[in-house]
Amino acid sequence: MSDFVRIVEVGPRDGLQNEKATIATADKIALVDRLSATGLQSIEATSFVSPKWVPQLADAAEVFTGITRRPGVHYPVLVPNEKGYDRAREVGVEEIAVFTAASEAFNRKNINASIDESLQRFAPVLERARGDGVRVRGYVSTVLGCPYQGEVPLADVVRVARELHAMGCYEISLGDTIGVGTPAKARAMLRAVTAEVPMPALAVHFHDTYGQALANILACLEEGVAVVDSAVSGTGGCPYARGATGNVASEDVAYMLHGMGIATGIDLDALSDTGRWLAALLGRETGSKVTRARMAS
Ligand code: HMG
Ligand code: MG
Repeated sequence: MSDFVRIVEVGPRDGLQNEKATIATADKIALVDRLSATGLQSIEATSFVSPKWVPQLADAAEVFTGITRRPGVHYPVLVPNEKGYDRAREVGVEEIAVFTAASEAFNRKNINASIDESLQRFAPVLERARGDGVRVRGYVSTVLGCPYQGEVPLADVVRVARELHAMGCYEISLGDTIGVGTPAKARAMLRAVTAEVPMPALAVHFHDTYGQALANILACLEEGVAVVDSAVSGTGGCPYARGATGNVASEDVAYMLHGMGIATGIDLDALSDTGRWLAALLGRETGSKVTRARMAS
């Protein structure tokens, strides 16, 4: 097992894309700035998708312009096409994430494209990113199940991960979009992908819909993965994935890792305070058990 794990904080993007209430741009900026002070090295700041599809993040340019970027911290943003790439570059984005899925049915609902069409759409984006020195992450969604198609063959997960890697994504994040996976399945999926993509280029992204996320992460850590996506306060969900709820809470992942003697560089107190602040802003209880326990004690 790795003795250092990088947490990719996706709360400002995956978390806020799914909120019903409107969140002020200033609050989104404050969230990213607070997260920047916790020791996190990667914070997915926002998303340059179509505002018609995700109105919650229509202020992506304002958010990205407003945040204070810390040296040494990466601020990737979601980009679905060249239009998103143009918008992101206009405000100085230096890392992007393209996203597709292992399931045709989900991809159609989420980005209105088949898997192959989405890869074709990314090709010019990746080419321009290479020329501009922009780092690109790639997401594969529905790696352990699809809300529309059900079972997703492992071979499809492996193929999409391999293609994104071959196209130039430095890291592939394997997403259990609807949180249906269990540890043995997560382990088998990761193992299958490592036959085609080296482990250092892989990350895992678990939603906690069925309460399996930490167990799944542990199984994947045991396989050697060293990058974990999570969202402060357990926010998250995809508006185009029926039934998808929060990401595993970053505070809970950090607590587990620290308890296992695995470093993250994160100040858990600061992260927990940020999670509490965000929960108050959203007007609900935090989705982090660790933060809840710390509030009670
Ligand atoms: P489309 O409707 O097929 O595309 O959407 P289009 O090219 O016809 O564009 C429709 C309108 O949007 C046009 O405007 C475009 O100009 C505009 P109109 O001419 O009607 O006025 N448009 C844009 N505007 C701003 N920025 C852009 C952009 N692109 C088009 N980038 C599209 C196709 C991909 C654009 C759309 O389906 C989309 O934006 N989907 C995003 C959905 C999304 O964000 N889902 C959540 C993120 S994925 C996720 O959460 C999973 C993940 O967390 C991992 C996991 O958990 O598994 C990553
Ligand atoms: Mg997600």
